[in-house]
Amino acid sequence: MAKLSLLLGLLILFTPSLSCPVHQKQALLQFKASLINATTSFSPKSPPVLLESWNSSLDCCHWDMVICSSRFVSRNVVALYLEDLIWSKEPIVLSSTILTPLFRIRSLTQLVMSWNQIQGELPGDGFANLTELVHLALWNNDFNGSIPSQLFHLKHLQYLDISSNSFQGNIPKEIGNMTKLQHLILRSNELFGEIPSSILNLKELKTMDLSYNSLSMEIPVDIGNLANLTILDLNCNKLTGTIPSTIQNLTKLEILHLESNLLIGDIPSKLFNIKDLKGLLLGGNNLTWNNNAKIVPKFTLSELSTRSCGLTGEIPNWISTQKTLEILDLSENQLEGMFPKWLAEMEVGTIILSDNNLTGSLPPRLFNSQKLYALSLSRNNFYGELPNNIGNATTLGILTLARNNFSGKVPESISKIYGLYLLDLSNNKFSGNTLPDFSSNVQLQIIDFSSNEFSGEIPTNFSQETIILALGKNKFSGRLSRNLANMSKLEYLDIHDNKIKGELPDFICQISTLHIVIF
Ligand SMILES: *[C@@H]1O[C@H](CO)[C@@H](O)[C@H](O)[C@H]1NC(C)=O
Ligand SMILES: *[C@@H]1O[C@H](CO)[C@@H](O)[C@H](O)[C@H]1NC(C)=O
Ligand SMILES: *[C@@H]1O[C@H](CO)[C@@H](O)[C@H](O)[C@H]1NC(C)=O
Ligand SMILES: *[C@@H]1O[C@H](CO)[C@@H](O)[C@H](O)[C@H]1NC(C)=O
Ligand SMILES: *[C@@H]1O[C@H](CO)[C@@H](O)[C@H](O)[C@H]1NC(C)=O
Ligand SMILES: *[C@@H]1O[C@H](CO)[C@@H](O)[C@H](O)[C@H]1NC(C)=O
Ligand SMILES: *[C@@H]1O[C@H](CO)[C@@H](O)[C@H](O)[C@H]1NC(C)=O
Ligand SMILES: *[C@@H]1O[C@H](CO)[C@@H](O)[C@H](O)[C@H]1NC(C)=O
Ligand SMILES: *[C@@H]1O[C@H](CO)[C@@H](O)[C@H](O)[C@H]1NC(C)=O
Ligand SMILES: *[C@@H]1O[C@H](CO)[C@@H](O)[C@H](O)[C@H]1NC(C)=O
Ligand SMILES: *[C@@H]1O[C@H](CO)[C@@H](O)[C@H](O)[C@H]1NC(C)=O
Ligand SMILES: *[C@@H]1O[C@H](CO)[C@@H](O)[C@H](O)[C@H]1NC(C)=O
Repeated sequence: MAKLSLLLGLLILFTPSLSCPVHQKQALLQFKASLINATTSFSPKSPPVLLESWNSSLDCCHWDMVICSSRFVSRNVVALYLEDLIWSKEPIVLSSTILTPLFRIRSLTQLVMSWNQIQGELPGDGFANLTELVHLALWNNDFNGSIPSQLFHLKHLQYLDISSNSFQGNIPKEIGNMTKLQHLILRSNELFGEIPSSILNLKELKTMDLSYNSLSMEIPVDIGNLANLTILDLNCNKLTGTIPSTIQNLTKLEILHLESNLLIGDIPSKLFNIKDLKGLLLGGNNLTWNNNAKIVPKFTLSELSTRSCGLTGEIPNWISTQKTLEILDLSENQLEGMFPKWLAEMEVGTIILSDNNLTGSLPPRLFNSQKLYALSLSRNNFYGELPNNIGNATTLGILTLARNNFSGKVPESISKIYGLYLLDLSNNKFSGNTLPDFSSNVQLQIIDFSSNEFSGEIPTNFSQETIILALGKNKFSGRLSRNLANMSKLEYLDIHDNKIKGELPDFICQISTLHIVIF
């Protein structure tokens, strides 16, 4: 035992303290120098670069954002976390040639270069050098041109995120070569053409996020073969055809996001059997859903969108089983009937039911919610007065009730909703010759009360934050109060078609932000 620890001690004593290879340190120092050089022209006095610890007299394995392997014989740089390096108010732009020195560090397994305002084409030859890469994150830059094919030869790659850039062109079929890939994130680029069927070779794939591009043609019919997919996000593209029925084979799916494409046909009913599904977002296509079918979902959703999915009849009852629902969008359907009591009790955060044919008055229980953030009921046939307890909905930010048949006064308690910032009551039959004191709704930026039956003097108790104030087509009377000039952020004021006396007063001109006045 003593011998062993002696041996160990000697071993530690005689092991030379290993530092990173000289050529790798030089590559990093060169990267730092060219970064400083590139930013100096924007901010000559203090180049806003966060690489202070990159000191040539220290071992580069001790620098910030640099990770070395802990192998006994050599210590190579294996990971660089170079995220958000530039701190500057100036609009600094870096060229993609800034990456050149890094391509000499062939031992890299992880490279994170997100949020760096790098512009230009991605140097394919350079990435061909980085054959050990497992994790590559380049999101939120401004890389353009096509995705270089060399990227798809990185056969160890498990994570590829190049989202929020300006990559153009097709997704090359070579993508099917990256058979280790688990996360493919190409969101928010300018990619077009089809989703290549070779993508079905990526059997390990857990995330496929191709959203916010211009991809067209059909979703590969055998997408159901990617048995490990948990996130399938194809939102905002131009995909056509039907939802492949194999999608119901994706038993591990948690997010299915197909909104805003050109899909047609039926929503596969077996989707309801996918136990782990949390987000089911299918709106904004031309899909149809046979909602008469008796549905007993096995999932527990937090987000559901079936906007414009041809829903008819009452709001589907099965939704009441979704106890953890946070976002519900059933807008642009032909739903009828009343606002369901069960929905008022469910504590949903965002409820969007606009553009349907719903009717009845609003259940007061809805406004005792501790979570209600957005309620959008515009363009239905709701009627009656707003419940007096509306002010209990203290988490409310957005309330849009336009084009219904609501009437009566706006309850005083609305002024208790501190965070309310959009209030659209236009095109109803609201009345009353006094309004609540909106000066305590300190966030209230957009107010549209137009086309109602409000009377009395134009109120002046609005928030200083108000940007849009639309009071046209009511029965307001009297003169405009000088206090309106206190609304220092007002950009749009519409008071036309009322019974206001006199000319437009001069003090309105004191509001320097005001662009549009409709009198
Ligand atoms: C720094 O930038 C200037 C031009 O902007 C260039 O001539 C020079 O070679 C650059 N130096 C380094 C070390 O990149
Ligand atoms: C680098 O480190 C040495 C010793 O720790 C220090 O004297 C020197 O000022 C540092 N250089 C820079 C540029 O920070
Ligand atoms: C690839 O790495 C080698 C060093 O191993 C280097 O000489 C070469 O310039 C690199 N290629 C590119 C395109 O950066
Ligand atoms: C990429 O961006 C750079 C810099 O803005 C520009 O010069 C180049 O023409 C662009 N390339 C393509 C293919 O759009
Ligand atoms: C890469 O993919 C292409 C087209 O799918 C194929 O022809 C080629 O053999 C693949 N290369 C490797 C190294 O697998
Ligand atoms: C899914 O992932 C598991 C564990 O990561 C892996 O063992 C399995 O091979 C994958 N499934 C497929 C179809 O590749
Ligand atoms: C996948 O779906 C297809 C069509 O829905 C079906 O024929 C096939 O048996 C399913 N495969 C598995 C493994 O469940
Ligand atoms: C939606 O699809 C139906 C057929 O399924 C078609 O008649 C209709 O024109 C489509 N509507 C739109 C807006 O594309
Ligand atoms: C809306 O419902 C009313 C009855 O509540 C009905 O008269 C009307 O036709 C419906 N409108 C549409 C567009 O379905
Ligand atoms: C809601 O508001 C009413 C009247 O404004 C009040 O009596 C009641 O206690 C409130 N309920 C909750 C749960 O806050
Ligand atoms: C709106 O409500 C009033 C009663 O407040 C009723 O007389 C009228 O018929 C309703 N209009 C519509 C279009 O439903
Ligand atoms: C407007 O606010 C002032 C003081 O902030 C208050 O005295 C006045 O009664 C309020 N007017 C209305 C109509 O709420």
